Amino acid sequence: MRAIAKIREDIAACDKELARLLARRMDCIGEVIAYKKSHGMPILQPEQEARQRKLLADILDGAPYEEEQLQVFECILKMSKKVQAKALFARNIALIGFMGAGKSTVSHCLKDMLAMEEVETDAMIVEAEGMAITDIFAKYGEPYFRNCESNAIIELQDRRQVIISCGGGAVMRDENVENLKKSSQIVLLTATPETTLERVKDSDERPILNGHMNVEYIAQLMEKRREKYEEAADIVIATDGKTVIEICEELIRKLNGMEGGREEN
Ligand code: S3P
Repeated sequence: MRAIAKIREDIAACDKELARLLARRMDCIGEVIAYKKSHGMPILQPEQEARQRKLLADILDGAPYEEEQLQVFECILKMSKKVQAKALFARNIALIGFMGAGKSTVSHCLKDMLAMEEVETDAMIVEAEGMAITDIFAKYGEPYFRNCESNAIIELQDRRQVIISCGGGAVMRDENVENLKKSSQIVLLTATPETTLERVKDSDERPILNGHMNVEYIAQLMEKRREKYEEAADIVIATDGKTVIEICEELIRKLNGMEGGREEN
């Protein structure tokens, strides 16, 4: 049996080697992003992630510590995604837009693809108040809810590289826009009233729409809010007829000034 000091020396040597390899791997991630940007390639390539997972599963199939190693690689993959996210976004991404514009869906997708943290102002309010949005409206009224919303946005001011999914009415208050702008790039998601109705019609969790679930009301309220949304937005993405991956890709390209690039695989 080796002396314990020797074994520990070996462990330290392994760590040193692993650290060197991890840094090399992270450098490669940075190079991939730079390459994709300069060649106008899609940034999000879920099929490549699937290929990589398959390759790893094959490499580790039957290997010593297979399960543990797979878990370590999961973590490495997640950290690589974070490196990608840092290369793409220095600030937060605040998603704004009318109810049903796809803010939560886009936020979940970016979270998965780039291992970014996501927060929803509505969820923060539900947690802080210990009740559902509809109950807050019913019990305390809309102005109280709007104050909670403004406070949630203030709370998020010091965060970075987080996706902030804002409630549909959040940017109607100028102070909220000012506070969001301090730390975030603001992305407006849009959808036609018809698409919006299709997306929200089966939910009764939006007090603003309860009793008004029709295209005319949605179109009218959307129009009333349009100017505020557009004023607040750094970029605008129409979501009708697009897949969530297409929307996220467009968001990344627009926020990185990559519009007009060539599309290839
Ligand atoms: C609201 C939108 C909702 C929620 C609340 C009020 C609005 O969020 O904040 O019901 O005024 O547009 P979603 O846009 O996420 O549905």
